Amino acid sequence: MSITVRAPAKINLHLGVGAVRADGFHPLDTVYQAIGLYDDLTVRSDKGWGIDVRAAAYVASGALPPPGLNIVDRAARLLADLHGLDPVGAVDIYKDIPVAGGMAGGSADAAAALVALDRLWQAGTSDDDLLRLAAALGSDVPFALLGGSAHGTGRGEVVRQVPDAGTWWWVLVPSAEGLSTPEVYRRFDALNDDPDPLPLSSTVVLAALAAGDPHALAAALHNDLQAAALDLRPDLGDLLEAGERAGALRGLVSGSGPTVVFLAESSAAAREVAGRLAEDVAVVLVANGPVAGAHVVPEVGTSWPT
Ligand code: C5P
Repeated sequence: MSITVRAPAKINLHLGVGAVRADGFHPLDTVYQAIGLYDDLTVRSDKGWGIDVRAAAYVASGALPPPGLNIVDRAARLLADLHGLDPVGAVDIYKDIPVAGGMAGGSADAAAALVALDRLWQAGTSDDDLLRLAAALGSDVPFALLGGSAHGTGRGEVVRQVPDAGTWWWVLVPSAEGLSTPEVYRRFDALNDDPDPLPLSSTVVLAALAAGDPHALAAALHNDLQAAALDLRPDLGDLLEAGERAGALRGLVSGSGPTVVFLAESSAAAREVAGRLAEDVAVVLVANGPVAGAHVVPEVGTSWPT
C-alpha cells in the first residue's frame, strides 16, 4: 500500500512579532496563507524506516538535516509513541518548496508525514491530537495541516481559519541559499532594543482578505522580520524594488526569508511580472492562494466516492 499526501507552502501576509518570551520564542500575530506550491510525501509499508528526498532543481536540498534528525523523522516518532507503534515505513519526499526559504517547507513535510503515516498505520488519530503533535513539531506545522487563510497567535501554533473572499496571485522568487529562522529572529532582537511585548495586530490584513481587494491587501502587507532578513541579505532590497518596478502591487519577504513574494492584481498580471523578473532572476514562480492544507492525493485511476 502507498499513500501520497500533498502539503502547501505558506506565506505570511502579516507577521507581527513581539518581544522574545522566557522560552526563547516570540509572540506572534500573523496571517498565514497556503499557496499552490507543494511538497509531496509518499509512504509505503516497510520493515524498517527510511526517507528519500528528491527536489526541484532550484531547491537546495543539500541543506536538509541529516537522516534521523529530519522533522519527518521526529513526526514519525511522535505519532508512533502516541499509539505505542513501531515507526516503520519507506518515505519518499518530492520538494518544490524551497529549503530554509521562509515558506515552511519543513513544516509542510511534517504535516504531510503525520497525515500519511496516520493512514499507513491505520492509527485513527483525532484532529485534536494531530494538531497537538503538529504544534510540538514546530510553530508553523498546525497551519500546514489547516491550510487556507488563517490567523495565527501564540508562537504561531494557535490557528483559526479566517474569511477570505479573494483568489490571490503571487510571484515568488526563491534564493539559491537559505536563511536560518533562529538567526533571523536573533537579528530581529538585535535590531529592536526596546520591542513592544505585544505583536502588532493583523486587523488591517484580515479586513483586506475579507473584502477580496488586492489593492487594499497590497497596502496592508506587513512583516516585522523583513528588516532583519534584509540586514542579513541586503540584495533582497534590490529584488523587492525590481518586482515593484516590474508591475507588482507590492513585494514582501516571506516569513523569515529569503524568498520574496510579490502580490499581482490578477493571474495575467502575475505572469507579466514573472516574465519581466525572469529577464534578470534565475528562478521565478507563480502560485495562487488560498489552497487546502495537507491532504491525501487519490491514486491515479481511483474514482472519487459518489
Ligand atoms: O517553531 P520552530 O521550530 O519553527 O521555530 C524555529 C526557531 O525559530 C525557534 O527555535 C526560535 O528560535 C524561532 N522562533 C521564534 N519565535 C516564534 C517561532 C520561531 O523565536 N514564534
